Amino acid sequence: GQLIVPVCLADLEANAYASLPKNALDYYRSGANDMQTLRDNQDAFERIRLRPRILRDVSKVSTETTLLGHTVRTPICFSPTAMQRMAHDEGEKATARAAAKAKTCMILSSWSTTTAEDTIKAGKDVPVVPESDSSALPLYWFQLYVYHDRAAAERLIRRVEKAGYKALVITVDTPFLGRRLADVRNVFKLPNHLTMANFETKESNITMANVLEKTQTTQQKESSLAAYVVSQIDPTLSWKDIAWVRSITNLPIVVKGVLTAEDAKAACELGCEGILVSNHGGRQLDGVLATIDALPEVVHVANEYSKKQNRPIEVYLDGGIRKGTDVLKALALGAKAVFLGRPVLYGLAHNGEEGVSLMLELLQKELELSMALAGCCSTADLGPHNVQFGPYGSP
Ligand code: FNR
Repeated sequence: GQLIVPVCLADLEANAYASLPKNALDYYRSGANDMQTLRDNQDAFERIRLRPRILRDVSKVSTETTLLGHTVRTPICFSPTAMQRMAHDEGEKATARAAAKAKTCMILSSWSTTTAEDTIKAGKDVPVVPESDSSALPLYWFQLYVYHDRAAAERLIRRVEKAGYKALVITVDTPFLGRRLADVRNVFKLPNHLTMANFETKESNITMANVLEKTQTTQQKESSLAAYVVSQIDPTLSWKDIAWVRSITNLPIVVKGVLTAEDAKAACELGCEGILVSNHGGRQLDGVLATIDALPEVVHVANEYSKKQNRPIEVYLDGGIRKGTDVLKALALGAKAVFLGRPVLYGLAHNGEEGVSLMLELLQKELELSMALAGCCSTADLGPHNVQFGPYGSP
């Protein structure tokens, strides 16, 4: 198809659809089953209206904020997405550099096609240009899938501590992989020249090829990633395993994939420092709440426990963020930051690091403009008074 000059995130998505190979594009774009939750993540933002304030001198807008004590320039950050080198050969390194230049937070996936060490090095090699009025710096967190092999999980935690990651983001919504029909039909697999780089070490040689050899011959053909998860990821995972991770590391812990007040309570009681409200971009249980609809009850619990335990507990959101006003609505409803999954991949597909930077810049400009037009000069100005839920029906 014809490529367009992107002026918004939807343009980058359209270009990616026109340029990526089918195996990769289907893996990136898909949600589980009927993809109801995938659609709802975006639709739900449109069911919320903004309440702007006027005549408040919005000549200067700052989006600077802090995440677990680290200052970043923007609350627009990068979710972990697996296998970024299918979108661009520089993959995770390109994303790390774009995060460095924007002084934002990147979460690296366990299933990256670049090692944790090489990814963060690429980011840290970017010279940081200081701004006189800002102490913002790039920030890297690591997303952890807990493997059957706990020794492998522990080795990985030691590696990322040493490499300089500042938090562990434990994904808790994936005891099994959601059923993504396009990947089943494509018998999705990682292209041969790429690997799940963090696991192909001397100590743990868990390769996709090994898994495939064991599974695809006997069973009905399916996504090789689904088979990989069955063979490697521990579905017995429970809160006591989060406590185990807590006991072996000093890194702050963020649980990713919480959608209810009940689970938010459990996370707070275990002492987690952050909660990432996420439905995995609609790729796991289809039919769950849109993340923006789940956010208020989680924020409510986190605020309660912050007071009770006299410590900050931060709440973040990902899923369906495509416009500046989406970011504004999430921040107004109590998210400290938002994270982007697919838009990063579409930025990579556009032009590697530059494409990710372009994507972020477009969204950042939209956020700054919408904050100004809503009468907010800083993220601290934003609150529930800026939004209104109503009987609006579908957009
Ligand atoms: C993901 N996501 C994800 N999450 C995670 O914890 N570990 C992972 O390895 C991956 N991999 C992954 C691959 C792809 C292709 C996608 C689209 C998503 C989920 C991701 O972190 C995030 O929750 C969603 O992508 C957010 O939704 P949006 O921004 O894509 O709408």
